[in-house]
Amino acid sequence: MRKPIIAGNWKMNLTASEAKAFAEAVKNNIPGNDKVDSVIGSPALFLETLVDAAKGTDLKIAAQNCYWENSGAFTGETSPAALADLGVDYVIIGHSERREYFHETDEEINKKAKAIFANGMTPILCCGESLETYEAEKTAEWIEGQITAGLADLTDEQVSNLVIAYEPIWAIGTGKSADATIADDICGVVRQTVEKLYGGEVAAKVRIQYGGSVKPENIAEYMAKENVDGALVGGASLQTDSFLALLDAVK
Ligand code: G3P
Repeated sequence: MRKPIIAGNWKMNLTASEAKAFAEAVKNNIPGNDKVDSVIGSPALFLETLVDAAKGTDLKIAAQNCYWENSGAFTGETSPAALADLGVDYVIIGHSERREYFHETDEEINKKAKAIFANGMTPILCCGESLETYEAEKTAEWIEGQITAGLADLTDEQVSNLVIAYEPIWAIGTGKSADATIADDICGVVRQTVEKLYGGEVAAKVRIQYGGSVKPENIAEYMAKENVDGALVGGASLQTDSFLALLDAVK
């Protein structure tokens, strides 16, 4: 009953002309959005180009971050209202790279989630543990804490529409993916946490992605798992062939 969602996260890669060429190359081969939501998460600089290129197709565009105020004296920040006006559908928030390098807190991520919903877009809320936490077998409590804080004061309807990405930090860009059973277990912890906070009906609706060294060769293993509704993909989303192969493996 949950529609799969495959999102590329380009991170700080590509140029505007490469982004445009990418969208032109893939836009007519995107599977129908009755089967899968296909998303590209682009640097803010190329969002307008991508939204324009994707018009009239089933490709959806995500920003990789935004601020929680719609306007004001916040030099260098990106307004969620401006993103929505541009035609952006999703915003990735709480990625471990932003938490680590830009010191984003759960409280800030929660404010961003509210602002994104208030502007009619959908957050892709990331969570994930470090290798240290994983090895200490504290993953479940860590994830429960991040989800509880990230969802604070959201409504049932908002959480039902939310996308949550579980990305173990030790599996990001390392080629070392969490195997599908681990991914399913921890995506299950995410779902149980949502159930505890919002009840079974909401937990059955929220879509949960796995992220961390997902590629065309392994995506089917993850998608076969009960609690995994999609993937958030870095490296393998940067080439048109592998991005389309990821979508093909799911449709
Ligand atoms: O957000 C996607 C991510 O962090 C995973 O990156 O390169 O391991 O697929 P990658």
